[in-house]
Amino acid sequence: MTHLVTLIPGDGIGPEVTEAARHVLEATGVRLEWAVERAGAEALEREGATLPDRVLDRIRRSRVALKGPITTPVGTGFRSVNVALRHELDLFAAVRPARSLPGVPTRYPNVDLVVIRENTEDLYAGIELERGAPETAELRRHLSALGHEVREDAGITLKPISVSGARRIVRFAFAFARETGRRRITLGHKANIMRFSDGLFLQIALEEAPAHPDVVLEEMQIDQLSMRLTHDPETFDVLLLPNLYGDILSDLCAGLVGGLGLAAGANLGWEYAVFEPVHGSAPDIAGRGLANPIAMIRSGAMLLRHLGEDDAADAVEAAVDDVLRRGEVRTRDLGGTARTDDVARAVTAALRRARR
Ligand code: NAI
Ligand code: MG
Repeated sequence: MTHLVTLIPGDGIGPEVTEAARHVLEATGVRLEWAVERAGAEALEREGATLPDRVLDRIRRSRVALKGPITTPVGTGFRSVNVALRHELDLFAAVRPARSLPGVPTRYPNVDLVVIRENTEDLYAGIELERGAPETAELRRHLSALGHEVREDAGITLKPISVSGARRIVRFAFAFARETGRRRITLGHKANIMRFSDGLFLQIALEEAPAHPDVVLEEMQIDQLSMRLTHDPETFDVLLLPNLYGDILSDLCAGLVGGLGLAAGANLGWEYAVFEPVHGSAPDIAGRGLANPIAMIRSGAMLLRHLGEDDAADAVEAAVDDVLRRGEVRTRDLGGTARTDDVARAVTAALRRARR
């Protein structure tokens, strides 16, 4: 059987790391047919849109995509392609494993946790009012009538969290824990301050918990959770987080196990799945062959598993571990001098060695 996969090279280091991942995935022997689609800076230049409809249609057809990072210019009014993609395809769950890897020395050798991030709501819903816009003044008047003063010179970003949005990510997290043999979910929140958004998220989780007696649900305030993660990360299993906290702690957890160059991820909905690393387009090293492709390669392994190609996924993960354990071929972020395609070749060679 041939699997159709949409491939979005992305911006910055995206094309370099997606090419490396494609090379490795093809070496597994799984039959993959790639539909390459441009999004981001290049699409903007050629077609006047960062996320052309054609790209969305293509993903809807293939149902799965491997995606490189896409640059979001800061403060220019451009909506993030990444956020838009997650909304358009309703990819409500981001799954980001953080596991200590062989041959990658870190402060804690036995981290093995998974971040589950709600991916569509919260402060990333994109409901924003610019300072000075007429709507801002209107909202200010409403709030004033309710006894809240919002300064005239304030911009506003809203934080919606819904019952349905919370319930589906909570159920997803319990199902994920059960299917992957994990026993404990730690929900991070600030429900004492944001009672009707984080508070609702927590309330829904507590409502759902009795239906899942095989998995323990604990709750922790996000600031305390941050401290605990840097202090005893090995005690955590699954982290369940609203969007913003999930974004921040994903990078923190990546840092715990060797950095962004290693951290893989998936964006999942009921219908579609887009696999991409946690990292961004890394403009500081783009185009120079310095990027570590392992995060993207491991995202590719998650894609294979999603397609039901478990043996190939296991083989890719084992090959990456093998290369890291040997320590001969490492990119600069891991203290080596290897280039992006050196790593791709080393992982492919490890795959072939394992098969012999
Ligand atoms: P970043 O993750 O691109 O880079 C942060 C630091 O990590 C940089 O020093 C970079 O060189 C390093 N780094 C990242 N990936 C690496 C890799 N594979 N190998 C070696 N070093 C690596 O984060 P930053 O700089 O905040 O964002 C850059 C752009 O990427 C922004 O426009 C941002 O919006 C976008 N972005 C896109 C994401 C996506 O497409 N899903 C996710 C995160 C950021
Ligand atoms: Mg991020």
